[in-house]
Amino acid sequence: ASLQMYVDELPQLPELYGYTTVNGVPTSATLTIGMYQTSWKFHRDLPATTVFAYGTSAAAATVPGPQIEALQGVPTLVIWQNHLPQSHILPWDPTIPTAVPKKGGVPTVVHLHGGINPPQSDGHANAWFTADFAETGPTWSQSTYTYPNAQHAGNLWYHDHAVGLTRVNLLAGLIGPYIIRNTALDAKLRLPLGPQYDRVLMIFDRSFNTDGSLYMNSTGNNPTIHPQWQPEYFGDAIIVNGKAWPYLQVERRKYRFRIINTSNARYFRFSLTNNLTFDQIGSDASYLPKPVTMLSILLAPAEGADVAIDFSMASANDSILTNDASYPYPIGSSVDQLNSKIMKFIIQPGAPNPPDDSEVPPKLKPYPLAKTAEATRTRYITLYEYQSAAGTSTHLYINGLKFEDPVTETPKVGTEEIWEVINLTGDDHPFHMHLAQVQAVKIQQLVDLAGFTSCMTQLNDAILCNITSHAAGPLADVPMTERTWKNVVKIAPGYKTTLVVQFYVIDESYAPYPFDATAEPGYVYHCHILDHEDNAMIRPMKLVA
Ligand code: C2O
Ligand code: CU
Repeated sequence: ASLQMYVDELPQLPELYGYTTVNGVPTSATLTIGMYQTSWKFHRDLPATTVFAYGTSAAAATVPGPQIEALQGVPTLVIWQNHLPQSHILPWDPTIPTAVPKKGGVPTVVHLHGGINPPQSDGHANAWFTADFAETGPTWSQSTYTYPNAQHAGNLWYHDHAVGLTRVNLLAGLIGPYIIRNTALDAKLRLPLGPQYDRVLMIFDRSFNTDGSLYMNSTGNNPTIHPQWQPEYFGDAIIVNGKAWPYLQVERRKYRFRIINTSNARYFRFSLTNNLTFDQIGSDASYLPKPVTMLSILLAPAEGADVAIDFSMASANDSILTNDASYPYPIGSSVDQLNSKIMKFIIQPGAPNPPDDSEVPPKLKPYPLAKTAEATRTRYITLYEYQSAAGTSTHLYINGLKFEDPVTETPKVGTEEIWEVINLTGDDHPFHMHLAQVQAVKIQQLVDLAGFTSCMTQLNDAILCNITSHAAGPLADVPMTERTWKNVVKIAPGYKTTLVVQFYVIDESYAPYPFDATAEPGYVYHCHILDHEDNAMIRPMKLVA
């Protein structure tokens, strides 16, 4: 029997402040956050689930983890501690490049997604560590991470990034929200504010066994090659802030929701019933120049949308947040009864008390635009399925290269580049870069896709395969809601997407926090479908002076 929807209230996640205020002046704070094996109730009628969770203690650990509140311009320090047991609660696969500690334990390393952070604090996939730092990966260097917060005010999230285990560590529960605020900007914009009216929604899909345990396939889709790895994880329950299909009681007024798709592989296309629309105000960790009214919003894994919803416009006393994105996106199965519903808003009748004095201002925060003219060089990044010569293995690779292959992307600090990202697979891929901020400026369909693909599988070089003559199909629009600095861009199948990439941008209103972006161990970029990232749509990136 399936679980009844809308019986659990949307949880308010515990808040941790990444700063302290001394005599009215905010200064840096150091947080200590652990990873614990604990149990979590995902639904009233489901037995408690064993999870891995972030928290300040085992008892305080939650799924998602605590909401870290940071202030723009005030660095936050975090000591991440691993208190996880000897073995994983989920099946994993040692035949893909994976952190395998000799003495056992669960390798973990935390990445602040969307953060412009020093390399040593970026959560490099090989900088993993086990409980009490008993064992550490080859690029591990320190246990205290520094987050400068010298970037746009906006929505980030933290999650695990251990090589080969990212999909299972996130599935187990290692995710949490991180908000960078600018109080002067908040006062100026007058958007809905305060913990009641300004909420994070972290949305993901999971499957459960009847005893409440997490279900993940323990057999691969091609088990003679990879005994456990599957190309995409899809769960049949939809979870928001740790509860399956929750409800939230709201007043007839405006709310702000910071939505982040934290699924492993599922895309969501959200809509609202009963006449409600979204005013989208931000994308990933940056504001849009002005709000865009949307009937539906498509989010890839790891992508974020900052929205305002005005419940006073509802034509009834409730509204369902729905989903109609096929999975895999865009050519997979259609949604069903379960995964087409996300959560329910129950709207109190009558005027809000106190009255709603918030607004959705006509102008938000314009940032300097992407300028292709300033780019210092162009790189071609091709996503395709690579067959080994012997035909014994298939991998989703970037440019036909493994993660362990020598670094090929070495941009200069402070420059802009053009990255032409070419998708020769049948699926959309969420392209994510660490450190850099990216903006899509052109999306063009490829002609003679089959010819280009067969050339690439032989020569593995977009220029030799004459990309210019293949990138000649119709143009697609860059959506209005994605015309800002992003960290995840959806790369449509059969298209070339032109990205302007900044290494790196800071908010012009704040002095940069100096750090050496060229230091070891560098950064990574990858597909954010976690099952792809693990095997192995991920490449190193090393900045140079
Ligand atoms: Cu959200 Cu490299 O990750
Ligand atoms: Cu992918």
